[in-house]
Amino acid sequence: MRTVRTVAELREALREAPRPLGLVPTMGAFHEGHLSLIRRAREQNETVVVSLFVNPAQFAPNEDFDAYPRDEKRDGRLAEAEGVDFLFAPSVDEVYPPDHQTYVVMEGIATILEAEQRGTSHFKGVITVVTKLFNMVGPDRAYFGQKDAQQVLVIRKLVRDLNFPVEIVVCPTIREPDGLALSSRNVYLSTPERERATALSRSLNAADEAVASGESDPGRVLAVARAVLDEAGIEPEYLELRSLEDLSPVERVNGSTLLAVAARVGNARLIDNAILGGT
Ligand code: PAF
Repeated sequence: MRTVRTVAELREALREAPRPLGLVPTMGAFHEGHLSLIRRAREQNETVVVSLFVNPAQFAPNEDFDAYPRDEKRDGRLAEAEGVDFLFAPSVDEVYPPDHQTYVVMEGIATILEAEQRGTSHFKGVITVVTKLFNMVGPDRAYFGQKDAQQVLVIRKLVRDLNFPVEIVVCPTIREPDGLALSSRNVYLSTPERERATALSRSLNAADEAVASGESDPGRVLAVARAVLDEAGIEPEYLELRSLEDLSPVERVNGSTLLAVAARVGNARLIDNAILGGT
């Protein structure tokens, strides 16, 4: 595996690289979720590029950009062990030179849920950096985790709206044995908070069971999920049933309905989601 720091070096290295080429965009601090994306990319492509860049543009000023876990050496070892060809680890100045002035913004689905909590600059930052990575790397496929369900929809839309010739591959959320979705931010949880945090996935499971038993009224499904969070003393930032297509509110839970939750547990802001209704 070769570690590359500049766009010029990356372009040169990829000029003759065998295709198809898979890109796994990451912010590092690898866990099994990242490794599952890398493994899928390795299975499906001749060349695999993993980008490692903690993107300042997607963090609001009050968020954890400085504290975000970083361990490039460990990430590099893990990526190498998975057979990654190139680790692209640029500096902030390489991605955003001091005179950088262009950003990509999306209306509609990039202005709700996460954007209402984190500010509209969050997806502006994500969309801009993903656009830049697509232009820098020129992948045939790019890999994202279903845990960031809204991000997945936003990126699929970006690809459609701006005609990127990239196939988006979405991999399932990886969970701890007790259900907690893996996240780089789980390191912020103390032991008792870690235990309370399992209420997020338990609330999704409870809702899923209610739907499987025939409940389709959104208010009642949400009440089932909400009760689990209440019991754990967790006040969600949002707990919402939305259409899996465009995140619009649903009148019945049937077919493909997304149940998305975000909550703070101690210092960690956690998100999770489940697709209810049998898809
Ligand atoms: O999901 C993430 O880790 C980030 O949002 C991404 C897609 C790497 C962009 O910085």
